[in-house]
Amino acid sequence: MKILGISGSPIKDSNTDRALKIVLESTSLKSEFIKLSDYTIGPCDACLACIKTNRCIKKDDGVMLAEKTYKADAVIIAGFTPYSSLDSRTKTYMERLYPLRHRHGLMADKPGAAIITSAIPHGQEGMLPAAEIGIQAIKNFMIEEGMKFIGGVSLLGNVPCVRCGQDGQCQMSSLKMLHGPDATPESVGINDFENDPQKVAELQQLGEAIMNSLY
Ligand SMILES: Cc1cc2nc3c(=O)[nH]c(=O)nc-3n(C[C@H](O)[C@H](O)[C@H](O)COP(=O)(O)O)c2cc1C
Repeated sequence: MKILGISGSPIKDSNTDRALKIVLESTSLKSEFIKLSDYTIGPCDACLACIKTNRCIKKDDGVMLAEKTYKADAVIIAGFTPYSSLDSRTKTYMERLYPLRHRHGLMADKPGAAIITSAIPHGQEGMLPAAEIGIQAIKNFMIEEGMKFIGGVSLLGNVPCVRCGQDGQCQMSSLKMLHGPDATPESVGINDFENDPQKVAELQQLGEAIMNSLY
């Protein structure tokens, strides 16, 4: 048994990456962690060359990633939510699994799960529910491919503004947009999901649920 974990986060050792690693470890099975920003992968060109072969003709890492995904016994997809929708790397990766669909439904019955890290606190007035939108995007992909959606966990991450060093001078501060006009990087702080034991438990339970779905 081998579980594949895909992270769309380009940030080094991000909340997204660390959360995915907890789920992978909690399956107690052999696993592989893939960070999409380490690879070159472009979107599906809708050329339909994959219809008869179930293989993409593009010359990039999308072909290898689709093959790894096909061979994995379960797949966990972890993304984040720039502009309150699923990040482009994670979306591109899912599009490039399109070749596995035709005629045979090669992803059918494979267990899958979602992790989303977003910076908008749950229920924030006037903002789109970014976490739900991200989870739904991954869930919908899995359901359309006939996979078994096991579950999703959403986590609070960090707006890039908390680290940019320009907050005092910036007219576009997301910190102030989300936390009010007096918010500063110091008052908001860096959010590490590990400080929330309930979230860590949810991630561990998701890993265990994936393992149980395979036996
Ligand atoms: C260009 C850009 C736009 C972003 N816009 C949003 C947004 O609209 N909503 C949101 O929840 N987070 C937004 N974020 C923040 C990411 O969701 C945040 O970085 C995420 O929590 C990843 O955190 P992590 O690095 O701790 O894993 C944005 C990030 C970037 C880089």
